[in-house]
Amino acid sequence: MKTKLIISAIMLSGFLAMSCQTGKQKDHEKITKTSVPVKKIDSLLSLMTLDEKLGMIHANSSFTSGGMARLGIPELVMSDGPHGVRHEHGRGWFALEDADDKATYLPVGICLASTWNRELGYKYGEVLGNEAKERGKNVILGPGVNIIRSPLNGRNFEYLSEDPYLTAEMAVGYIKGVQDQGIATCVKHYAANNQETDRHNIDVIVSKRALNEIYFPGFKAAVQQGGAWSIMGAYNKVNGQYTTHHKYLNNEILKGEWGFDGVVISDWGSVNDTREALIYGTDIEMGTELVKSFHNPDYDDFYLARHAKKMIESGEIEEEYVDDKVRRILKLMYRSTALGRHEPGKRNVPEHQQLALKVAQEGIVLLKNDGLLPLDKNKLRTVAVIGHNATRLFAERGGSSQVKPLYEITPLEGIKNLLGDDVEVLYAEGYEPYYDESLFRDASGEAASQSRANKKNVEVAKKANQGLIRDAIALAQKADAVIFVGGWIHGHEGMPWGKGTYDAEARDKLNMKLPFGQEDLISEINLVNRNTVVVLKGGSNVEMNNWLPETRAYLHAWYAGMEGGTAIAQILFGEINPSGKLPMTFANSHLDYPSHSIGEFPGNKTVQYTEDIYVGYRYFDTQGKEVTFPFGFGLSYTSFEFSDLKLTQMDNKVLVECTVTNTGSRSGAEVAQIYVHQMEASVDRPVKELKGFEKVMLEPGESTNITIELDKSAFSFYHPEKLEWTLEPGVFEIRAGSASNHLPLKGIVEIDY
Ligand code: GLC
Repeated sequence: MKTKLIISAIMLSGFLAMSCQTGKQKDHEKITKTSVPVKKIDSLLSLMTLDEKLGMIHANSSFTSGGMARLGIPELVMSDGPHGVRHEHGRGWFALEDADDKATYLPVGICLASTWNRELGYKYGEVLGNEAKERGKNVILGPGVNIIRSPLNGRNFEYLSEDPYLTAEMAVGYIKGVQDQGIATCVKHYAANNQETDRHNIDVIVSKRALNEIYFPGFKAAVQQGGAWSIMGAYNKVNGQYTTHHKYLNNEILKGEWGFDGVVISDWGSVNDTREALIYGTDIEMGTELVKSFHNPDYDDFYLARHAKKMIESGEIEEEYVDDKVRRILKLMYRSTALGRHEPGKRNVPEHQQLALKVAQEGIVLLKNDGLLPLDKNKLRTVAVIGHNATRLFAERGGSSQVKPLYEITPLEGIKNLLGDDVEVLYAEGYEPYYDESLFRDASGEAASQSRANKKNVEVAKKANQGLIRDAIALAQKADAVIFVGGWIHGHEGMPWGKGTYDAEARDKLNMKLPFGQEDLISEINLVNRNTVVVLKGGSNVEMNNWLPETRAYLHAWYAGMEGGTAIAQILFGEINPSGKLPMTFANSHLDYPSHSIGEFPGNKTVQYTEDIYVGYRYFDTQGKEVTFPFGFGLSYTSFEFSDLKLTQMDNKVLVECTVTNTGSRSGAEVAQIYVHQMEASVDRPVKELKGFEKVMLEPGESTNITIELDKSAFSFYHPEKLEWTLEPGVFEIRAGSASNHLPLKGIVEIDY
């Protein structure tokens, strides 16, 4: 690729390239390239009977697949989840009562992505891998890299971003961190699993261009840059075929084009056909809807058990398909703690808890601040903390990603710990959550009908909440400052699985309305006390128009892990300068999002991704639509300036260099973001696409120069007709700045062959 440069009008100056690779990450290549003993694998395979091979390609307990004791091959031991090692199930389906299984509860995926810090991604994975190893696991079922297509998806908290590049960059570090500990990641859920409604059957109708430009990149990077040792097939279909055994997804793309040599593990019960699972890439079948009793299954009744045996013995399917699966499993075993040699693991050690705190400190996003923050504890006598979420525990909620934490610091505890005896901290719950059927969708995705009994319960609950509201307002009136902590509840106690889960696995939300009367409560608190801060927890955003205008400061805290309360307090009182940036667009209503305005969400039986590649800011910015808080946005207690953009051609790459300066009065971190736009193309393209970023920490007055390399992939698109990646000659605009809506530096490069 020859690049003729039209040098931008902005001054040029020399820069030092900053590598985002850490020493440890460089070591990583050694581990994944550990020579897998191929000859030994082949000889083991030659000694195995068909029954023994089949025993390895399906579950033999809730979270293990079979080994082969006769040949010294252990079972493969798996565990959830993406942000902490789940409680112990043993071989059954219920948590073992007195197991020693408390763990480090890390901030959820979307909070990690909000740090925009690749190195933290690596360290996050390192902690997770270490703790999985200590618990005797070989595979951790994460990270979740599905694209956040709608704000209503119940599992957005577990995922990373609406943007494929940010998703890929944060997943790669995580995967390397986990696998450097000898634990296989199982990157999920491949692919286009972007709703929970009818997740076991929904058929996603989506173009190959959108798959390749939006929904695949996280998985492709996981395989080609992260070296993922396993991938989890999703429940849903794509274009008419179940993803777990999908010809295009598995055979052509994953194992073909991307060269994946690892294991495709089904989601629990996502295999639906023996023949397809045998020939279209399922390597291990976990869980199954086939068995009569989910809790006491006959493991020989799995699709890849006696049903597969019948097909092989009849000659309908060649045994080589099974051999390939067993080879892949043995390869994973030799790479991992199953058959490989790795240092012993650690669990619940201070350095793990410190990392959880660090991710929370960098992942919490300050979205609004008129100067009220940071609060000065020396000028406060009484602080009122109001809101159910100030004391609610989240770790063991959310579904399969739950963690039994060694501890969980709530916002109220974090604030009390920080203020000590210097300031009086008062608390009022403000509202008690209640199970309101009309807040949920039924299995078909429609608004659930509300039974008479539930209607009555809700009326009683709302009445009871009137008292809580009165108490909260009274407290707010006499405090020097108010910290309101609300948001989503991440599952509702006492509800059957899937039924009462709110902002959690197995259910999508109906809308983004703040539940349980929080909107009115926030407004009333703002009326009686102008020193009010709103802190919301949740896996995505809420409607804000009714309370944000009169709110002076708003912090979005996601589910920030076991030290989330500490981090929230440190940010509110200025001990930490926030640096989080939104990994998804915060619009005011779900109806504004392309998946609702031109696409479909959720689907019922089929869901049309008619928005195609225009997901998130790609849609809002191309359509020029206003949003409440844009992708990549996040405030700091200091300020930064961008200058000196320089675009340089070098070895088939474009070097983007610029200077970032801390122009404020305190140290802080900024994320320089690089967006690319092809001015004219033969196909429609978004007005901007994130193709590079770098996070820098700067002292007041300090400047630093960053260099970001854009290779040809940064300029290419997936051709909708040719069905291949295409770099079309043309003029490209490159912009740099601190958010998708704040890109002060602009340059032009002309790229032609
Ligand atoms: C669940 C989830 C998956 C999880 C698995 C095992 O249904 O979809 O993410 O890892 O089952 O719990």
